[in-house]
Amino acid sequence: MLPKSILAFTLSLIVASGMILTAATGLSLAETPDTARDAGARSANVTVEYTLTTGGGTGQLVFVGVGGEIDGEINPTLRANPGDVVKITLLNDDGMLHDLVIDEFNVATDQFADRDAQDSITFTVDKIGEYVYYCSVPGHRQAGMWGKLVVGESAAQGATGADIVRDPADVPSAIGEREPETVRVELVAEEVVGQLADGTVMTYFTFNGTVPGPMLRVRVGDTVEVAFRNETSSQFPHSVDFHAATGPGGGAVYSNLHPGEETVFTFKALNSGLYVYHCATPSVAHHIANGMYGMILVEPEEGLAPVDREFYVMQGEIYTEEPYGTPGYVRFDHDKMLAEAPEYFVFNGAAGALTSEEHALRANVGETVRIYFGVGGPNFVSSFHVIGEIMDRVYDQASLTSPPLTDVQTTLVPPGGATVVEFALDVPGRFILVDHALSRAERGLVGHLVVEGEGDPAIFDGELTAGSGH
Ligand code: CU
Ligand code: CU
Repeated sequence: MLPKSILAFTLSLIVASGMILTAATGLSLAETPDTARDAGARSANVTVEYTLTTGGGTGQLVFVGVGGEIDGEINPTLRANPGDVVKITLLNDDGMLHDLVIDEFNVATDQFADRDAQDSITFTVDKIGEYVYYCSVPGHRQAGMWGKLVVGESAAQGATGADIVRDPADVPSAIGEREPETVRVELVAEEVVGQLADGTVMTYFTFNGTVPGPMLRVRVGDTVEVAFRNETSSQFPHSVDFHAATGPGGGAVYSNLHPGEETVFTFKALNSGLYVYHCATPSVAHHIANGMYGMILVEPEEGLAPVDREFYVMQGEIYTEEPYGTPGYVRFDHDKMLAEAPEYFVFNGAAGALTSEEHALRANVGETVRIYFGVGGPNFVSSFHVIGEIMDRVYDQASLTSPPLTDVQTTLVPPGGATVVEFALDVPGRFILVDHALSRAERGLVGHLVVEGEGDPAIFDGELTAGSGH
């Protein structure tokens, strides 16, 4: 039950949905009775009340809804929004021993067998997700005495979160000829509920709201001035370690910030190459797995040879409690991370992210492309491969001062490492980016390079066959 002092200032009303909303601006109104005067509209934090009976006259081991939209429904799905207070009242209707338990919120009614006895649980739901309410009397859950509490979007409708996918075409332009200078970059640690897959969301840790974070581009000899801030809404401290920096922690020693803090530090880009940056706050692997990585290109003095199109792609793994493909809000699983048993593998943050209309790589026949490819990880080496293409040049390990390898099919990229690959496009079609450890393609690790233009039968010719998947 809510304390009387709170109820005194709330206004209960029954809305069309049948839920009883104790409308006000949340529990804090106990201290600020003024807010109760704003009651009426459903604001962000309200009390959502449901009543369930045991059996409800059905003679079955089930919960049955009482009142509103759930009236008469067997094991109804209860709904609330993050931040709401949920009150569930259990009415005994069959004279058998029962209770109602929700593990995740650590709440349980009393167990009672008296017909017409009742008890309530009241708790705050803070996280989007699907939870099970059930009767904990041995055998009752198995017999069917359970239902769902959905917080936020219904999993059945598909949970939706922010689009955290960094567009692979989002590459800064070439530096061109100039003397070394000081370049200011701004990075913000943001924790966001983002779309992991169709109908599946999770909490990402990001630089600037996307995975990977922004691609940064400087020239060798530049001084990089990093303005780093951790959003006030964050739950965790965050930092940034630049593999391009020379000095302890790659900058992490200067940048471990609590939510709401900001700082500026500098480093000189002494070596050219393509370098990973990532959060280095413990558990580092956790922060990386949740998306906190990106890359900085340090161009050599003479720059890079011009190409028609450049792309930015990074690979990572995601460790969730729920198996691959589970809809709704999914949670990070530390044990799976330690066991290096991810549920998802991703390019640019989400399952199949680079296969969408919006984020596929696009080019034309006759063009040359360069892919800046890195692995955030935290743990898995990539055997990077583009199905149907041969990499004309591979700057192995992203070393831009060594001569490139030529004519490469698949190239290895370690976690915290990168490569730069280039190839010319001779024929149109869909070329599929994969890690040639191909089980991972079935866990989300796939991208498309869509090439348009005239075919050339002298290079590639034949009859199309069905079901190739390309
Ligand atoms: Cu972090
Ligand atoms: Cu590192």
